[in-house]
Amino acid sequence: MTSTTARLIETEYRLGAHNYKPLDVVLSRGEGVHVWDVDGNRYLDCLSAYSAVNQGHCHPKILAAMVEQAQKLTLTSRAFRNDQLAHFYEEIAALTGSHKVLPMNSGAEAVETAIKAVRKWGYEVKGVERDKAEIIVCDNNFHGRTMGIVGFSTDPDAREGFGPFAPGFRHVPFGDIDAFRAAITENTVAFLIEPIQGEAGVLIPPVGYFAGVRELCTSHGITLILDEIQTGLGRTGRILAEEHEGIEADVTLVGKALSGGFYPVSAVLSNTEVLGVLKPGQHGSTFGGNPLACAIARAALRVLTEEDMIGNSAHMGERFQKGLSEIRSNIVKEVRGRGLMLAVELDPAAGGARKYCEALKERGILAKDTHGDTIRIAPPLVITADQVDWALEQFEAVLRD
Ligand SMILES: Cc1ncc(COP(=O)(O)O)c(C=O)c1O
Repeated sequence: MTSTTARLIETEYRLGAHNYKPLDVVLSRGEGVHVWDVDGNRYLDCLSAYSAVNQGHCHPKILAAMVEQAQKLTLTSRAFRNDQLAHFYEEIAALTGSHKVLPMNSGAEAVETAIKAVRKWGYEVKGVERDKAEIIVCDNNFHGRTMGIVGFSTDPDAREGFGPFAPGFRHVPFGDIDAFRAAITENTVAFLIEPIQGEAGVLIPPVGYFAGVRELCTSHGITLILDEIQTGLGRTGRILAEEHEGIEADVTLVGKALSGGFYPVSAVLSNTEVLGVLKPGQHGSTFGGNPLACAIARAALRVLTEEDMIGNSAHMGERFQKGLSEIRSNIVKEVRGRGLMLAVELDPAAGGARKYCEALKERGILAKDTHGDTIRIAPPLVITADQVDWALEQFEAVLRD
């Protein structure tokens, strides 16, 4: 470690809250799938800022859209209208097949917005008794870090010491259709679920699970809210991960890559009935729907389709997953994933995934351990076959050792 790196890490540690434990690499530049540290070392980014940089670092067309808009108008608040919002609505609605859009900033805000809207929908449209609305959520869910959300997390690190929490949530195991059926009551207004549980270790539910969920939601008048903040916008090889399941959610949450990696933008996408319950003054955000955010999101969506990043995610994901599965290693328990949302789960005897991520860093790959034994792999969707093959060589060397 050079003195510059050590000094920056020491200052960060001394002055910052210790709510993260990053790998000791200090990055100063990014382009496409690569990032460079302050000492000029190059790395292949296999995390993509938790899938917020699907389009690759500093994509020139998103950058140009951002600079152009930043020179014209950046923020109006929603007290006035701006000339980017309508175009953003049109384009995201067309791409995702949605009828109504509510723009926010972070992913957690989109989740909180959906919870608010769906509770109100429960009272006003479904006829649930006041303050009795229940939302079913999954064990090991990850939907963000705000108070409402950590209150229904099952991860002790996320919730211990932060109570009291809001009531109104029931838990079911992810992927268990009978448990979901059994948890439904007359007060159930929504089922909030990730199509693939990302933070829990890239867990994919059994085939047919989501078709069953869709059917139960429809027959019981329950709003199906899919949190596609991580899985959406090409990450799994489709625009939305729901396409793999052949279903359509009633409410879809997107964020992360809607920013192109430049500036936080999230959105709640829904049919007219659910978002229609929100009236002026009942919800909002100073920055939500601002012209800079809209211009960036429009460019971020445009390049995803124009440059076939979604198709590339499907093809390169298949190549990456096949290559990982072929690595002969007695510490690999399972390789799983969809598109470029991949994970290698190690045998607990391997001593945790963190040290393998550190070894990968030494070989020029930045990947992240999650939940102890899993290495999560999610490169930008612009990765090429040669880059995948090079990455596989590094994974093989580290996992074989
Ligand atoms: C599935 C899912 N939902 C919500 C969030 C929260 O997004 P943000 O960190 O932008 O608040 C995340 C972030 O990792 C996520 O993966």
